[in-house]
Amino acid sequence: MNRPLAKSEANKSEANKPEASEPQHARLAIRIRDLNRRFGELIAVDGVSVEIAHGEFFVIVGPSGCGKTTLLRILAGLDSMTSGTIEIETPNSQRPVNSMIFQGDSIFPWMTVWDNAAYGLKMRRVPAATIKDVVGHYLARTGLTRFAQYYPHQLSGGMRQRVSIARAFANDPEILLMDEPFSALDAQNRLLLQEELLRIWEEHKKTVVFITHSVDEAVFLGDRIMIMTAQPGKVKSLVPVPLARPRNILELQKTPQYGELIAGIWSSLREEVRRARAQEEGMTS
Ligand SMILES: Nc1ncnc2c1ncn2[C@@H]1O[C@H](COP(=O)(O)OP(=O)(O)OP(=O)(O)O)[C@@H](O)[C@H]1O
Ligand SMILES: [Mg+2]
Repeated sequence: MNRPLAKSEANKSEANKPEASEPQHARLAIRIRDLNRRFGELIAVDGVSVEIAHGEFFVIVGPSGCGKTTLLRILAGLDSMTSGTIEIETPNSQRPVNSMIFQGDSIFPWMTVWDNAAYGLKMRRVPAATIKDVVGHYLARTGLTRFAQYYPHQLSGGMRQRVSIARAFANDPEILLMDEPFSALDAQNRLLLQEELLRIWEEHKKTVVFITHSVDEAVFLGDRIMIMTAQPGKVKSLVPVPLARPRNILELQKTPQYGELIAGIWSSLREEVRRARAQEEGMTS
């Protein structure tokens, strides 16, 4: 289903440019064309077409039930599409194409924090010394070093979510797919992990596709935000976030540009949330 994007195809327009002078976002990582997903009568994803650049932090917002998770699962190869095409560029065949952080708990309850974080690397038979370094690094970055030998039931919900994040990063995929990874966290841990995610992302510049219900989070993290319509989920608009990086949320909150972006996105989203609510009420009455 996911066909690797041939290099020549990906770089057609860049063909004459030397590698070193390519802008950060020149190469394409993901190209989705006219993607549709139906579940029986229900149209979950309706004609979504979008191109995501290599190293881009791409955020998806939209009302509950508009098809965000479905779209991400299709990108991850966990669900099939009804029609359309997805092309994913995979320049480094040594690495997994993607790692997904799911909505809610997704770590193995029978494994320790360490083994959970090391899982992808072990499956790929990465040498033990490398696993030790990489897992140690990401457990430290997510504040879990002290809990390496704990089992998930001994952790809080936020800590379990941090294990998922450590595992996804340790796996070193080309593309990180994140489905509301911070929604279960308290406000303080959410902010810490958002900052941490940005720091790690700025170091490695992986392509990230990130779903959230929080407009603030979308603007703080994203390069571009895709707003989806209420069901059937279409692309309503694609909003660039022209805020300088590295970003500091407290500084950003003082700037009028940040406030304007939030207000614009929220007013567009509010309409869709209202429509989604009306649809739900129509179904239940
Ligand atoms: N396996 C499935 N079988 C039938 N319907 C499904 C299936 N998966 C999703 N759906 C339906 O597709 C629609 C989109 O679901 P999806 O989980 O993608 O929404 P979402 O945008 O992620 O919502 P939320 O913000 O609440 O997580 C919903 O109406 C859902 O009921
Ligand atoms: Mg979802």
